[in-house]
Amino acid sequence: MSLTDDDVLAAGPGAGPSRTGPVPDGEPLLEVQDLRVRFSRAGRHVHAVNGLSYRLAPGRMLAIIGESGSGKSVSSRALMGLLPSTAAVTGSARFAGTELVGMPEAQMRRRRGADIAMVFQDPARSLNPTMRIGTQVVEAVRAHSDMDRHAARRRAVELLSLVRLPVPEQRFAEYPHQLSGGMRQRVMIAIALAGEPRLLIADEATTALDVTTQAQIMELLVELQHRLGMAVIMISHDLGLAASYAQDVLVMYAGRGVEHASAETLFSHVRMPYTRALLGAIPLLERESHALLPVVPGQPPDLSALPAGCPFAPRCEYSDEQCGENPPFAEQEPGHRWACWHPVPDPAPRGERS
Ligand SMILES: Nc1ncnc2c1ncn2[C@@H]1O[C@H](COP(=O)(O)OP(=O)(O)O)[C@@H](O)[C@H]1O
Ligand SMILES: [Mg+2]
Repeated sequence: MSLTDDDVLAAGPGAGPSRTGPVPDGEPLLEVQDLRVRFSRAGRHVHAVNGLSYRLAPGRMLAIIGESGSGKSVSSRALMGLLPSTAAVTGSARFAGTELVGMPEAQMRRRRGADIAMVFQDPARSLNPTMRIGTQVVEAVRAHSDMDRHAARRRAVELLSLVRLPVPEQRFAEYPHQLSGGMRQRVMIAIALAGEPRLLIADEATTALDVTTQAQIMELLVELQHRLGMAVIMISHDLGLAASYAQDVLVMYAGRGVEHASAETLFSHVRMPYTRALLGAIPLLERESHALLPVVPGQPPDLSALPAGCPFAPRCEYSDEQCGENPPFAEQEPGHRWACWHPVPDPAPRGERS
């Protein structure tokens, strides 16, 4: 089955073959429960992910944000079985009902790209510099199907059109260095789409691009999300980008979720002091979309010696003795979770809204 624009439009969102079964109404596509990743080397342990829990509904776009080192990449790579052998992964991550944690590598390899595919920050490094881009897309198509070369080539051209690579037939014979950064990222997305994934994880996929190209790639991801009925996780440290494109936002700190809500709720009713600090003093809508995160005073915690209590407490102006105990990441308002004993006052209290 090929994935032309017409097929996709005719079939509508949610259609298309998948390796896992359908998700019953109201069930999440992905349910991460108390996920933990610990790296061990020479008797030293780095606790990169520390009880991460979230749910993602089919076809939604979730932004995962947080400072560098908060565990965004490691937790996502854990879903794909893409961590080195020094990593111990525990907890649960169910994709369409199937447990991913502890899945044997052979099975994981078959599913990788078909259920979940990933796009990274640096397409120059992910693409093979010595191979024509057409060949690289054809190989990705053939890795996921038993198409002959001819059919796979047709499909590869379709995928390159789907990601809006101009004149794909002409580009087919070119090498990665002949393409701009934005075009290379489109090729990477085409390769990621070759297995018709139900979830695409874009890990800082637009970070290396200029602002205009960044917006174009984000708009492409939104378009693909809607046309293919595909869920997207965009990992970013750019709150403006998350606010502009994602439907849901999960804020991570020290390998754990600390605030999670719809983008609308999170940005108008921020409660977790860490998210508040990330937002800074500037109202989000007045900020340029490429604005960098304001620097949060203080240092992120040492992941090899995490405190027993709230890991943000040492940097938090609201902290007191109670914060010596780690607050639960609980749903405190409908659809709004945060982990804090002393949340900041709701900037737009719900009771007072008309
Ligand atoms: N292979 C590894 N071995 C040891 N520590 C690692 C490894 N990969 C990542 N880490 C550590 O895990 C933590 C989380 O990293 P990461 O998920 O890449 O952060 P983020 O993507 O949020 O910037 C960091 O402290 C990082 O140094
Ligand atoms: Mg990262």
